[in-house]
Amino acid sequence: MAESVAKQGAENWTPESWTNKEIRQIPDYPDRAALQTAQEKLGTYPPLIFAGEARALREDLAKVAAGEAFLLQGGDCAEAFSAFRAGSIRDTFKVLLQMAVVLTFGAACPVVKVGRLAGQFAKPRSSSTETQNGIALESYRGDIINDLAFTEESRTPNPERMITAYTQAAATLNLLRGFARGGFANLQDVHKWNLDFVGDSNQGTRYAALADRLTETLDFMAACGITAETMPQLKETDFYTSHEALLLPYEQALTRIEDETGEWYDCSAHMLWIGDRTRQTDGAHVEFLRGVNNPIGIKCGPSLPADELITLLDILNPLNIPGRIVLITRMGADKVQEGLPPLVRAVKAEGRSVVWSCDPMHGNTVKSNSGYKTRAFDRVMQEVTNFFAVHLAEGTHSGGIHIEMTGDDVTECIGGAQAITDEDLGDRYHTQCDPRLNASQSLELAFEMAEALKRERAAA
Ligand code: PEP
Ligand code: CO
Repeated sequence: MAESVAKQGAENWTPESWTNKEIRQIPDYPDRAALQTAQEKLGTYPPLIFAGEARALREDLAKVAAGEAFLLQGGDCAEAFSAFRAGSIRDTFKVLLQMAVVLTFGAACPVVKVGRLAGQFAKPRSSSTETQNGIALESYRGDIINDLAFTEESRTPNPERMITAYTQAAATLNLLRGFARGGFANLQDVHKWNLDFVGDSNQGTRYAALADRLTETLDFMAACGITAETMPQLKETDFYTSHEALLLPYEQALTRIEDETGEWYDCSAHMLWIGDRTRQTDGAHVEFLRGVNNPIGIKCGPSLPADELITLLDILNPLNIPGRIVLITRMGADKVQEGLPPLVRAVKAEGRSVVWSCDPMHGNTVKSNSGYKTRAFDRVMQEVTNFFAVHLAEGTHSGGIHIEMTGDDVTECIGGAQAITDEDLGDRYHTQCDPRLNASQSLELAFEMAEALKRERAAA
């Protein structure tokens, strides 16, 4: 049994000790009384996840840290109240299942599945205000804080939105639990996960061929007496949730102590991460997360020096518990080869156990000629390729991927096998915030990563 982080490591910590630290990216709620009411309400609501599940994820991630599994983390940049549909949740889940099958079967590597879902609502912004036609208003900060519409009223931070976000997260998680456990994830149905609009494309055909091979393998196993009835793992899967722990008043309200162990858990999701803009070692976000026992992600951008990363690990994982920390590097395709090795070497030299995961999205965002915020699929792929190359050279495990993607048939990122162009972006550009990979682009990425993982395994 792993030792507790909070009991052993987090001295002088309480769920509200972050309020004594400097905080970035949190709105100033004009109505303080309403904020307190919303927090009190949330404090009495049921937790969304159980401590035991967060521990199970930590154990799964410990296997990733040891080089024995791969982490697949993906979903929306920002979930939206207006885009809350069963079909969207189902289709995103399907694409994640497809990617997992491609990686598991293609690279013979177990996959730990974590959604950027069921609570991914709060967004850090590079500018706190947005100006349109000479009028400056508070920036949109995600549906849990304010509304995208460009009016004074919409942009005013409203604490009531935290309750709506909680309710949407609960319903999303409920559906995901049903999908994961209720037969939808049965490997026998591997063909049915292909989405109609991907079916005839390159990626769809490639996936169907892999699904054929998998079905043959399952038939063979069934002939040997191994079926979903004798081995339930074949018809259900573990699926975890995660989001950026940005809006601390919300996270604090959902933080609970487990009676049996005396450990604190942030029960809003299984895994939480700290954004690249809020990872100051003496800041509020690091203070809050050091005391909860969930697995923690740290976004590592090009401005993070190696010694500061080690300080962050000292604070967030003083006992060096495997599976506690996921380092999510997001350098930008051209900066990986220079920026990543110093971090990898420092972590290795200090003997720290971490999962290395690649976010190929946030360092590769550009404005297209037609004015859309987009990402070129080539650049995304290049960052992933460089990430695998660095870890291969350093003898460390390329442990995971962190992507913004959706099962909806969107045109938000340029390129990929469908060759989406700048002119196409306007067709189905639906994101509330950053551009996401669509199903076809996500699958293409999974096939490439399966090959890279195979090479890593062959070299080991
Ligand atoms: C994000 O993951 O949506 C995000 C804002 O990332 P980062 O903190 O790495 O910029
Ligand atoms: Co984003």
